[in-house]
Amino acid sequence: MVMFKVVRVETKPYDGQKPGTSGLRKKVKVFMQPHYLENFVQATFNALSAEKVRESADALQKVVYTVYKESLSVLIDLNRFLGLVCQNVDHKFPDNIIVTLRHNLASLVFVDGIALSFLGATLVVSGDGRYYSKEAVQLGAANGVRRIWVGQNSLLSTPAVSAVIRERVGSDGSKASGAFILTASHNPGGPHEDFGIKYNMENGGPAPEGITDRIFENTKTIKEYLIAEDLPDVDISAIGITSFSGPEGQFDVDVFDSATDYVKLMKSIFDFESIRKLLSSPKFTFCYDALHGVAGAYAKRIFVEELGAQESSLLNCVPKEDFGGGHPDPNLTYAKELVARMGLGKSSSEVEPPEFGAAADGDADRNMILGKRFFVTPSDSVAIIAANAVQAIPYFSGGLKGVARSMPTSAALDVVAKHLNLKFFEVPTGWKFFGNLMDAGLCSVCGEESFGTGSDHIREKDGIWAVLAWLSILAYRNKDNLNGEKLETVEGIVRQHWATYGRHYYTRYDYENVDAVAAKELMAYLVKLQSDLTEVNKYASHATFKICGAKFSWSVDGRAMALKTHFEVSQFFHIIDLTICLIKGVRSDVSIVVEADEFEYKDPVDGSISKHQGIRYLFEDGSRLVFRLSGTGSEGATIRLYIEQYEKDPTKIGSDSQDALAPLVDVALKLSKMQEFTGRSAPTVIT
Ligand code: G6P
Ligand code: ZN
Repeated sequence: MVMFKVVRVETKPYDGQKPGTSGLRKKVKVFMQPHYLENFVQATFNALSAEKVRESADALQKVVYTVYKESLSVLIDLNRFLGLVCQNVDHKFPDNIIVTLRHNLASLVFVDGIALSFLGATLVVSGDGRYYSKEAVQLGAANGVRRIWVGQNSLLSTPAVSAVIRERVGSDGSKASGAFILTASHNPGGPHEDFGIKYNMENGGPAPEGITDRIFENTKTIKEYLIAEDLPDVDISAIGITSFSGPEGQFDVDVFDSATDYVKLMKSIFDFESIRKLLSSPKFTFCYDALHGVAGAYAKRIFVEELGAQESSLLNCVPKEDFGGGHPDPNLTYAKELVARMGLGKSSSEVEPPEFGAAADGDADRNMILGKRFFVTPSDSVAIIAANAVQAIPYFSGGLKGVARSMPTSAALDVVAKHLNLKFFEVPTGWKFFGNLMDAGLCSVCGEESFGTGSDHIREKDGIWAVLAWLSILAYRNKDNLNGEKLETVEGIVRQHWATYGRHYYTRYDYENVDAVAAKELMAYLVKLQSDLTEVNKYASHATFKICGAKFSWSVDGRAMALKTHFEVSQFFHIIDLTICLIKGVRSDVSIVVEADEFEYKDPVDGSISKHQGIRYLFEDGSRLVFRLSGTGSEGATIRLYIEQYEKDPTKIGSDSQDALAPLVDVALKLSKMQEFTGRSAPTVIT
């Protein structure tokens, strides 16, 4: 067995290693600076050891006392654990215990600085295969990790990592205690683009804020890291276990098939047979675009091999470290090829589009669902999945525990929850908030406007799961109809949903890579503006209109003032003209702002409070404007503006969403002085 040594390397802190919503994301050239990645990984190990020690100490403090009274020899068996407790936590153990344990155990606790909580641990290290993904294994070896599990070619989608942590059992019975996921999700890849790394916990979900804060603190004071020296490269293209011998004993790198565990999980959730029947119907056509991300590694296995789709229905399904030069974000702007194939957008093809289309982001946790010439907003998608889950998906046949959405996501899910009498939660942006609810058994299905949908089968959002959920709904709706005249379509299902629950018109404007100072100033301005709703409503109900050819600029404070102005003006103009002008000019489709705040969330499970989670302007008719700074960019700032309007009237649910929302958009841009602050006359992306 090849031996390796562990060496300490002196280092200095780097600024700005604060993990964002989903880990640390920076340009590859930033990560390539000497010791940059190593510092962050070591800071993570150090943060986690401290956390483990604290948790264990709290839980077992009582046991320690009891055991001590009963038998000293049992205590000796608990040596490793107690030593850890005594060395790291300021608990009030009797002095003699501490002395004895220190004496017996000092050598076991922090061997050359290695955190004991990682001795013997199994960690998953893999990612979306983007450029710069092959470097993190050595630090694991050096930090006393016993086994590293690596997906073949270092590929594992983010949801598959979560599934592997929760479900996979190694050949020796081992389970993983966490994972380093090497991905920058939907950000572009390649030498000039982004790399990222995030740590997921034992429950399969992203590290909570307490841990990411501690990681950040550690990055500011780090002086050294541990690294394995002379550890030969492992061939990660070949499945199998390679063993080495290090100072702590054996160290294994276990390369396994990226899809097996995930496919097994999906088969336990969905009725693959009924989906297979749907896909084999000549009337149903299907298309899936992985945007050259890691979803490609799963798409062929699941859609083609398991479900019988044609290979030609897969687009861009070969994972590439630069995503083929594209931007691996599944939305109407970046998933160009799919959008055209589905008959949407300007460059749509002449060929008849497929009935169903979907795309994934780089690490396959996001999804976009399309019907023939039809876009399903992510906010509608989660609401429709929730409304149909119990009938269409075997995993949910016992009922839903509850549903949840992020704050900027439209209220379509709220309406379903109300109809079905389900527990409902509105959480801040970021999947980790759903994880807490799921761990507490409060939530089965959840989703975000940012193209994330998922369930409590894992603790990440899941792009392929969302596609299978939609295929299940289509299969269920068409189960007696596969040989009939016409299949129930994606568009048909969405329109029926709107007819039952009302429609939430929704759009998001993104201003990417804006000057960070300007973005902060805009947000500060919006917060300040909230204290004066009268001022706000000057924007909300401002209208310019014509009466008999004369142009008036009309700025009023809400509806009451509008009527008053009507009365005054009518003294100068014929009443018929005036009526015409009111129909023409006043924005009866923009109601007034009745409340404005910064969203704050108290987690119902652990009581933690998250402040400053987005600025909301809430209108009398349920419309909303939300402003937020993105937490996932790697350069400058991205301002997101979310615009939503609820329409219950079945005769008004069929408009184009950009048309329906145009007045609210106008109000939002004026209200925020978007152009004045950012210099931008248009957003970079509209979804
Ligand atoms: C990641 C998280 C999502 C979150 C999204 C927000 O994808 O996993 O839970 O909704 O980031 O991104 P943003 O750029 O808006 O902060
Ligand atoms: Zn992602």
